[in-house]
Amino acid sequence: MAIPKETVEQILQAAHIEEVVGEFVTLKKRGSNMWGNCPFHNEKTPSFSVNPARNIFKCFGCGKAGDSAKFLMEHEHYTYPEALHYLAKKYNIKIEEREQTAEELMLQSVREKMFNINEFADKYFVDTLWNTEEGKTIGLKYFRERGYFDPIIEKFHLGYCPEKRDAFTQYAKSNGYSEELLEQIGLSLKGNKGLYDRYHGRVMFPIHNLTGKVIGFGGRILTNDKKSPKYQNSPESEIYDKKNTLYGIYFAKSAISKQNECILVEGYFDVLRMHQIGIENVVASSGTSLTMEQIRLVKRYTKNITMLYDGDSAGIHAALRGTDMILSEGMNVRVVVLPPEHDPDTFGKDHSVEYVTNYLKDNAKDFVRFKTELLLKDAENDPIKRGEVVRDIVETISVVPDSIFRITYVKECSRLLDMPEQTLTNELNKLLRAKFKKSLGPEGESLPDTQTTTVVTPQQPDETLEDQLPAGYYQERELVKLLLMYGNKMITDERINEDGQKVYEQVSVAQMIIDDLKMDGFLFVNAVHRKVFDIFDQAIDEGRIPDDQYFVSHEDETIAQLAADLLSSQYKLDQWEKYGIFVKQEEDVLRATVLSSIYRYKDLIIAERRKAIEEELKTTENLEDQIILLKRKKDLDDIRMQLNKELGIVIAK
Ligand code: UTP
Ligand code: MN
Repeated sequence: MAIPKETVEQILQAAHIEEVVGEFVTLKKRGSNMWGNCPFHNEKTPSFSVNPARNIFKCFGCGKAGDSAKFLMEHEHYTYPEALHYLAKKYNIKIEEREQTAEELMLQSVREKMFNINEFADKYFVDTLWNTEEGKTIGLKYFRERGYFDPIIEKFHLGYCPEKRDAFTQYAKSNGYSEELLEQIGLSLKGNKGLYDRYHGRVMFPIHNLTGKVIGFGGRILTNDKKSPKYQNSPESEIYDKKNTLYGIYFAKSAISKQNECILVEGYFDVLRMHQIGIENVVASSGTSLTMEQIRLVKRYTKNITMLYDGDSAGIHAALRGTDMILSEGMNVRVVVLPPEHDPDTFGKDHSVEYVTNYLKDNAKDFVRFKTELLLKDAENDPIKRGEVVRDIVETISVVPDSIFRITYVKECSRLLDMPEQTLTNELNKLLRAKFKKSLGPEGESLPDTQTTTVVTPQQPDETLEDQLPAGYYQERELVKLLLMYGNKMITDERINEDGQKVYEQVSVAQMIIDDLKMDGFLFVNAVHRKVFDIFDQAIDEGRIPDDQYFVSHEDETIAQLAADLLSSQYKLDQWEKYGIFVKQEEDVLRATVLSSIYRYKDLIIAERRKAIEEELKTTENLEDQIILLKRKKDLDDIRMQLNKELGIVIAK
């Protein structure tokens, strides 16, 4: 496509990277940059940054970087001209194109042609619905009789394809679209008497991608003809990748982001109905079982998914399939089951929005709990089946990445299953240990189950013993807790370099803590704490940081015990609020907590050491010795000053 050079420049200048990226990724401002979860690789903490000043994006995780056009090419798989056209449209820049030559037409990418014909078909179906006798009396009437109002029919570009077998195909051909393309995109099918319309006699649902382009169609039959399927759907093509598509995402994305929740339904009509009653954070998996890609699509906007299912048992069991997968992505999954006679479409039709909203609120069940209860009901009193249920549930719990949630689930399921917590924990640990070894690859799998360790009696915190505990015991413990809980979490560390500039780098929480302490020679005093310290220290060198479960399942009882103790109490990440420091993001809170914990630990140790030095100074006559002691004291004060400076950065945010 021939776009004049000056226009290209104009487009790229007009495009604001944060606005372009912002359509697809939820960005949050921090410092001069904006951050979000990278859409190009799977991650749990944001390493994807957008620099509005330079008008570029860069992911510190996977390394992808570039300008607005590059982003669209990567993200939407646009060609360069497609990206420019998209931006031109977004920023109201007119592209004066000269007539295309035959050669250029031929060169026009297949994808562009496909988008083009879909847009053409979309217009045709919409036009047929509203402006032809047949469309109005059959298609439009059908939608209206099902209780849909015109604004919704318009918003979703619902349409109608005439009953005549090849009405659309002929129309498209007379407009210059090739038979080859019509077949490729799936709008037409080849029969004995030539091409005919895939969707003839059906009402039409265009399927949009994130940017609102039509990538495929679904068409519903209007008769009770049992021979043809209720829905005809577009086949996959260069622009339609089913596993990556959710029906309604284009219309739902901003509501999902704003409400921090995504409601998942099964069908086209379910989405329409929810929108019509004003619930807009809804998408449909469109009959197929949910894929990992679809989950990641949702995850760009929220971590909370509510699955809304029909009351019939097919729907419920559909909810069970694939949901472990959602859990493994660290999403919070809840399930709402509708009364047996309803699907979301009819439920929304028969009730007010208040009723539906309250119903969702009152009936949303945490997925693990939902699954446990459901399976238990199926198993009744059959002991063999019950055994299977336990294994099934433990398997489900084992995919949950967050240890706090796992522990909570074990507690809850132990109650529901009427089984000792310890039994479930043991089962869970077995599974997790196996998974952890597997994750280490072939070497890990051959690791012996027991490690030789010297047994050290842990120093149990005991209020009556408080005075005898070494200085900084609790501060040490707090740091160990952070290591165990968040050690392998990556956070953006903000430092001031020699030139006084802010620099960002991705480090693990473990590295942040261990490096910081080592630098000042502050190693943990308590023997078990020290063991954990050493394990992390070595793991950082080896470039792989074990997760909390590694410690919970550790063969050294003292370590396993410590881990279990520390991980079973909820960590108060909101301590900073107490100090009047306002932190915006999870990651900021985590960084602030880590820094403050390091600070408090060091501060205490320094105070302790200063006291010791002062005592020693009193009894030291020798000037040389005095100087050494004074120098050591000054070193401590320097560390303290540095700490205050670092803390200042945290506070200044
Ligand atoms: P439903 O049968 O629940 O469809 O299938 P629906 O959208 O609620 O339609 P109505 O209310 O009967 O008119 C759920 C989804 O499964 C897919 C469609 O995406 C549908 O929306 N499906 C269903 C098909 O693709 N083909 C079929 O034959 C049936
Ligand atoms: Mn339905």
